[in-house]
Amino acid sequence: MKKPLRIAVIPGDGTGPEVTREAVKVLQAAAGRHHLSLDLQEYDFGAKRYLKTGELLPDSALDELRGCDAILLGAIGHPDVQPGILEKGILLRLRFELDQYINLRPVKLYPGVWTPLKDKGPEEIDYVVVRENTGGLYTGVGGVSMKGTPHEVAIQSMVYTHHQVERCLRYAFEYCRRRGRTRTLTLVGKTNVLTFAYDLWERVFHQLGEAEYPDIRRDYCHVDAFCMWAVKNPEWFDVVVTGNMFGDIITDLGAITQGGMGIAAGGNINPDGVSMFEPIGGSAPKYTGKNVINPLAAICAAMMMLDHLGYPDAAADIEKAVMFVTSRRLKSLAAGRMGYSTTEVGDMVAQYTAEGPPEE
Ligand code: IPM
Ligand code: MN
Repeated sequence: MKKPLRIAVIPGDGTGPEVTREAVKVLQAAAGRHHLSLDLQEYDFGAKRYLKTGELLPDSALDELRGCDAILLGAIGHPDVQPGILEKGILLRLRFELDQYINLRPVKLYPGVWTPLKDKGPEEIDYVVVRENTGGLYTGVGGVSMKGTPHEVAIQSMVYTHHQVERCLRYAFEYCRRRGRTRTLTLVGKTNVLTFAYDLWERVFHQLGEAEYPDIRRDYCHVDAFCMWAVKNPEWFDVVVTGNMFGDIITDLGAITQGGMGIAAGGNINPDGVSMFEPIGGSAPKYTGKNVINPLAAICAAMMMLDHLGYPDAAADIEKAVMFVTSRRLKSLAAGRMGYSTTEVGDMVAQYTAEGPPEE
């Protein structure tokens, strides 16, 4: 047995604990098959703890998290807490403090999954968005004055440094090379209006591409146009790289084309540190505690985590199990309409991960 993998598990709010439980089940199945040992440490950050103690993310916990191999997160957000408090105090703080400067979000349609895109299937919908994850409009730079008066000024700045842009683009070029498909990297920006920030992105994109990645084809789309093409011609895309805010928006668009929040997962990655994997959907308060939410997104987050930690075969076993379940078992990916409960879906994926999918 190798040294155990230390995984911090943060189930979080709403349906987070329900989906995380299934993800852990599948993780254990994959670990069993591949002789990996897991050291899971659970943390109770989220609305409950905040409402009880006023505490969001204690500094001591951050230090512990820095010592883990990876973090698996369920969901953060609760209707009893004003929007922004938990998101900024827990999720964004983790991303920033752990310098998880990449948000990697694959947009991949699995067989048997319904997509709202007419005439498109798994062949056409298979690209990866590299979203910058610690800069841009998310830095909190800005302010407000004369609040509540007709003269109120509200400023929220899109802040990017050369360093941030370069490390993100470098990751995207490298990822594109490793992925080895059409070797096309598309920069999504808005150089016609955001003539400071996206000019920096565009210049570094071409400089870096020309100097170090001549084998990668460079392509550019304004973000508004990208939204059209991602619907009409998703097959054009291989790897897409963009800033934080645009990345947030286009990955929800991407997620719905791959079957929605029931399946879409992502990784908050620090290539030299601790990364955190999560379903990209939220805490889904209206489905909480009903055992109807789809755990596949959380399961796919666990799969990405294993791949990131250097266990691509274990990850591939999970993916095969998920694909079998989407193509041969589930009626729909929507909460309450899967034809199975949350735990049943988790059980099936865990079983097929451990044994391989049945011959049918
Ligand atoms: C996401 C979410 C978060 C974001 C929110 C909850 C802060 O929408 O992970 O995409 O905007 O990054
Ligand atoms: Mn989002």
